[in-house]
Amino acid sequence: MKKNSYLCSRINTFILKMKILIINGPNLNLLGQREPGIYGSSSFDTYLPELRKRFADVEIEYFQSNIEGALIDKMQEVGFTYDGIVLNAGAYTHTSIALQDCIRSLKAPVIEVHISNVHQREEFRHKSMISCACKGVILGFGLDSYRLAIEALKG
Ligand code: DQA
Repeated sequence: MKKNSYLCSRINTFILKMKILIINGPNLNLLGQREPGIYGSSSFDTYLPELRKRFADVEIEYFQSNIEGALIDKMQEVGFTYDGIVLNAGAYTHTSIALQDCIRSLKAPVIEVHISNVHQREEFRHKSMISCACKGVILGFGLDSYRLAIEALKG
């Protein structure tokens, strides 16, 4: 009996766990070293285990690329089966119609995140090409923006 209930809980966890992909775009592989006054001194590799620990009920996958097409390929790969995508598209946020089209095509909701408050920065960062296709936008809370985005996806 004990064994059965253990198996049931394992199966439930397997079946019911939400699946979320976090995607970081260009230059975000340099978090911790890159302009720490703006982006902080913690690397994403340090932060990710904290997130996974906090959301033990969520399967959190992580992908980073500096290449626009690779971000699109990854979103297409998971965008019809995962429960949500947390996307920090970095500078592509401000330029990429291709990312906007991709987000529009997916079934999974996409939350746009930014570490910095882009509206307090240069004017070219005030415009997002992807916000209109995303479920919502979270920005300006440092790395905590990612946690808030997961909370939003969990609803
Ligand atoms: C950023 C803001 C973008 O303007 C910038 O190009 C980035 C990071 C952020 O997280 O604050 O690379 O998306």
